[in-house]
Amino acid sequence: MRVILLGAPGSGKGTVGELIERVYGLPRIATGDLLRRAVQEKTPLGRKAAESIGRGGLVPDDLVVALVRERLDAGDTGGGYVLDGFPRTIAQAQSLEAMDPRPAEVVIDIEADEETIIGRLEARRLCPRCAAVYNLRSQPPRRADLCDEDDETLIRRDDDHPEIVRKRLRVYHEQTERLVAYYAEKGALHRVAGGGTVDETFAQVRQVLDRALAGAGKEQTAR
Ligand code: AP5
Ligand code: MG
Repeated sequence: MRVILLGAPGSGKGTVGELIERVYGLPRIATGDLLRRAVQEKTPLGRKAAESIGRGGLVPDDLVVALVRERLDAGDTGGGYVLDGFPRTIAQAQSLEAMDPRPAEVVIDIEADEETIIGRLEARRLCPRCAAVYNLRSQPPRRADLCDEDDETLIRRDDDHPEIVRKRLRVYHEQTERLVAYYAEKGALHRVAGGGTVDETFAQVRQVLDRALAGAGKEQTAR
């Protein structure tokens, strides 16, 4: 099963993606995390991507598609995977279908209003070493400013500053939101309300995935 998480910045894709990975054992492929690592390590891709990320725009399709292709080749995705932050354009969605045409696709659109999103991103903190994500309001670390896992001092993502968040939201509405209609037309789209607590959001996601897994089981038995 391929799970695709859609949703605006701060809607909770990373949070839900990690829970899916933990509960369903599907590896999470988060293009934002992969790109940030490449920027941190100053790889050729990181150098090309840094400017787009810094100003809240999208990294060119060809670079992101190559990154995902390489990740899918890693050998642990045969049993399925969860995509967080990819695809973000119709061209990326079509490239994904070409590179891995397996049909069982579950697309989850996490919906949250703009006020909720801005509040969450203001309070998000990140561990620069292990990439664990916290929230000063909803998921604070045990000790102020320190990662629970490795004691590293938490940082704020450069693109979480309000003017860049506004730009990312604009880019989402202009370029990524159209994927909702694209996947609805294919009959693969499921909407979940992402404005409540993490538990409330994940309960809806579980319903969608459990139903999809039960359906896939029936299909296999019928064959
Ligand atoms: P990316 O890292 O994917 O950023 P994003 O899509 O803007 O989304 P975020 O990571 O900001 O939010 P999220 O939905 O994951 O929310 P989270 O779970 O962290 O991409 C960054 C950049 O990389 C892009 O701008 C672009 O430049 C580039 N890029 C990446 N992919 C690309 C692609 N495919 N093509 C081109 N360019 C690409 O939650 C947010 C906060 O809220 C956290 O603190 C969390 O703890 C908290 N929280 C989550 N859920 C809840 C809840 N239910 N209740 C309370 N708090 C919650
Ligand atoms: Mg994220």
